[in-house]
Amino acid sequence: MSTKLILLVNAWRRTARNAALARSNGLCRRLLLATILLIMALPSARAQTATFYTDIAPILQQRCLMCHSGANPAAGLRLDSLEALLEGGAGGKVVEAGAPGASELVRRIRGESLPRMPMTGPPFLSDIEILTIERWIAGGLQAGQVSAAKESVVTQPRPAAGEKVTYLHVAPIFATRCAKCHSENGLMGPAPEGYLLNSYQSTLARGERVRVVSGNPAASELLRRVRGQSRERMPLDGPPYLDADEISLIEDWIAQGAADSEGTPAQVPTGARVRLQGRLTTMSLLDDLELVIGAHTRIDKNPRPGDYVQVRGRIDSAGRVVVERLRRRKK
Ligand code: HEC
Ligand code: HEC
Repeated sequence: MSTKLILLVNAWRRTARNAALARSNGLCRRLLLATILLIMALPSARAQTATFYTDIAPILQQRCLMCHSGANPAAGLRLDSLEALLEGGAGGKVVEAGAPGASELVRRIRGESLPRMPMTGPPFLSDIEILTIERWIAGGLQAGQVSAAKESVVTQPRPAAGEKVTYLHVAPIFATRCAKCHSENGLMGPAPEGYLLNSYQSTLARGERVRVVSGNPAASELLRRVRGQSRERMPLDGPPYLDADEISLIEDWIAQGAADSEGTPAQVPTGARVRLQGRLTTMSLLDDLELVIGAHTRIDKNPRPGDYVQVRGRIDSAGRVVVERLRRRKK
């Protein structure tokens, strides 16, 4: 649409310029006529309806499929094919041909139904994207030309053998299984514990404490939670919890330096606070994590090996957990 508008504007400009040059020889009229013919030849941008494969699929691909695709889609709603979209989700149909205002999908992207979609927002869809989707629904849900977009399924990328695990590989897990709560406007309102899992920066952020310690998976509360070593097990809406493949992918990612999508490893968060839970294997082992315990450690409620405990401490420059407080907890 915009290309055509630009063409049109350029044609007018050319006409005006040429008309000035050729003021008196009739060229002006011929050019005007040509311009009018050109305009008539162009289908009106307004009348043109959006089609699924050309206009809608790319938006869904970018902003929705991370959650609405695959075997376990959010709300039972798959948006990775026209057929699946028309079928709707657990709550029934989400689009009503000819009636954008009555379509749940539109109500969600406008924020008229909550939570607003995409759940990772803000940013939500742009006004133009929302209007395009409305135009598609108003125009009767045309499929349009099947293009490459139909073939492009979202696969959760897995690293090849020997390839380093980066954020690119684990981000789809966080997006599909965690961000529904751990985002600004999630299922539980503000993110639980203020912990956002919808970007690389937020996943690694130090804030009050770190949940991912680059190079030390066992000191990373995120991994403890998805393994079920620490309560509550995550995702909180499980079972199903993450499968063994997904858990070992996250473990490898942290062990290999919790790299960003480009493969740049994160620094050890020296000095950052941690709060971990798990079971004491010995007095200096939390499950498989070695604890640095000494005169600086306050020990409460007489914890013994086998007990479920909470550990508070700081990460030293070697990525170890220097324990400030060790306390027995009810399990
Ligand atoms: C981070 C994950 C995530 C993303 C990204 C996401 N959604 Fe959702 N979506 C959910 C969850 C979770 C629900 C269920 C929330 C609820 O209503 O309790 C949901 C519900 C919906 C529903 C309601 C389904 C029904 O049956 O009522 C629609 C429609 C929807 N999403 C459309 C979209 C669209 C369109 C996009 C992209 C613009 C999108 N979603 C992006 C997680 C996501
Ligand atoms: C249904 C909502 C929900 C989902 C889905 C969810 N969480 Fe949580 N998460 C919570 C709540 C609520 C808490 C705080 C309660 C608690 O600590 O047990 C929490 C706490 C956490 C904590 C502890 C934060 C801290 O400061 O110690 C981590 C780490 C965490 N979640 C990671 C995840 C991961 C990783 C996923 C996805 C695999 C996930 N969560 C999915 C609701 C959720």
